[in-house]
Amino acid sequence: MKVSAGNKVVLIGAGDVGVAYAYALVNQGICDHLAIIDIDERKTEGNVMDLNHGVVWAPSRTKVTRGTYADCEDAALVVLCAGAAQKPGETRLQLVDKNMKIFKSIVDDVMANGFDGIFLVATNPVDILTYATWKFSGLPAHRVIGSGTVLDTARFRYMLGEYFEVSPMSVHAYIVGEHGDSELPVLSSANIAGVGLRRRLEKNPELHDELEAIFVRTRDAAYEIIDAKGSTSYGIGMGLARITRAIFQNQEVALPVSALLRGEYGHEDIYIGTPAIVNRKGIRRVVELELDDYEAEQFNKSVATLREIQDPFWKDGE
Ligand SMILES: NC(=O)c1ccc[n+]([C@@H]2O[C@H](COP(=O)([O-])OP(=O)(O)OC[C@H]3O[C@@H](n4cnc5c(N)ncnc54)[C@H](O)[C@@H]3O)[C@@H](O)[C@H]2O)c1
Repeated sequence: MKVSAGNKVVLIGAGDVGVAYAYALVNQGICDHLAIIDIDERKTEGNVMDLNHGVVWAPSRTKVTRGTYADCEDAALVVLCAGAAQKPGETRLQLVDKNMKIFKSIVDDVMANGFDGIFLVATNPVDILTYATWKFSGLPAHRVIGSGTVLDTARFRYMLGEYFEVSPMSVHAYIVGEHGDSELPVLSSANIAGVGLRRRLEKNPELHDELEAIFVRTRDAAYEIIDAKGSTSYGIGMGLARITRAIFQNQEVALPVSALLRGEYGHEDIYIGTPAIVNRKGIRRVVELELDDYEAEQFNKSVATLREIQDPFWKDGE
C-alpha cells in the first residue's frame, strides 16, 4: 500500500504538547507544511500567527496554517496530541475513557477525508490509544506509531548522563513497556560510552541503589513536572520531532516507540514501548531486545497492565 508522498504534517490537538511539537518542527525545518487543527479555533489562529512569525529565522521555510480535516487528504503524517491531559496525581491510564471517545471521532474524520499516510500518536494513555488508532483507521500497523517510551528513554539517558558525567548522546539505554507506571529500564543491554552497565555493577555493587533511584525519578518525572508547571511538553515535543525526522528522512533508525507486537517478547496484538526501526514507510520492524529473566517478567507485567485496561474496549467487537 502506498504512503502519501511529500512531507505535510497535520497536527490535531495544539495544547501544550502539540504546540511544543509544532515549535520543534518549525525550528528544525522538518516539514514544508504544518496544518494545525484544534477545537479551540481562536487559540489555534494565535498559535499559527505566532509560529509563522518565527519562520524567517528557521533553517528552512515551513508553511504553517490553521487546518481542517480536508488537509488530511494529502498529508504524509497526522500527529495526534488532542484530548485530556493528566491532572496532578492522575495516572495516564485514568484518561482512557475520555480520550478513547475523542479518538474515535478524530480518526473517523481523518480517514473520511482520504488520509493515506502515517499516524503518530502522543495522547495518553499512548499505547492504548495507538492500538485504538490502528483499529479505528484500518491502516496497516506499520503506519500507526505511538510515541511510546521515547520520552521516558530520553529522561533516563539524560539522568544517567548527569550521573556518569557524559553527554546523554553517549548513554545507550532503553525504557520499554507501557508509557506509564509499569514501564521498565533494560539494564542488561545498557552501556555508558561503550562500557556495559552490567560490568560497572559487577565492579561496584553499590551502583545498584543509585540506578534504581535514577529509574524511579525517570518513571515519576511526569508527576513532578505536572505538579510544578501543569504539564510536560518540551521533552515530548522534541521526541515527536525526532520521530518525524526519522520518517521523513527515511533514517532506518532505532527509536523507542509504541509498536504492534507480533510475537516479539512472546506477545501479540498489543502496542507497547519497544525499540523499532523507523523509516519513510513507518515502522520497518520491531527490535526485540534480549531481556534477562527479571526484565522479561517486568515486561510481561506491563503487557498485563495494558491488557487489563484495553481488552474491555474491544471485547464486544467494537
Ligand atoms: N506521549 C507522551 O510522552 C506524552 C507526554 C506529555 C503529554 N502527553 C499527553 O498528550 C495529551 C495532550 O497534553 P497537553 O498537555 O497538550 O493537553 P492540553 O489540554 O494542553 O491540550 C489538549 C488539546 O487538545 C484539544 N482538543 C481536545 N479535544 C479535541 C478534539 N476533539 N479535536 C481537536 N482538538 C481537541 C484541546 O482544545 C487542547 O488544545 C494528553 O493526553 C497528555 O497526557 C503525552
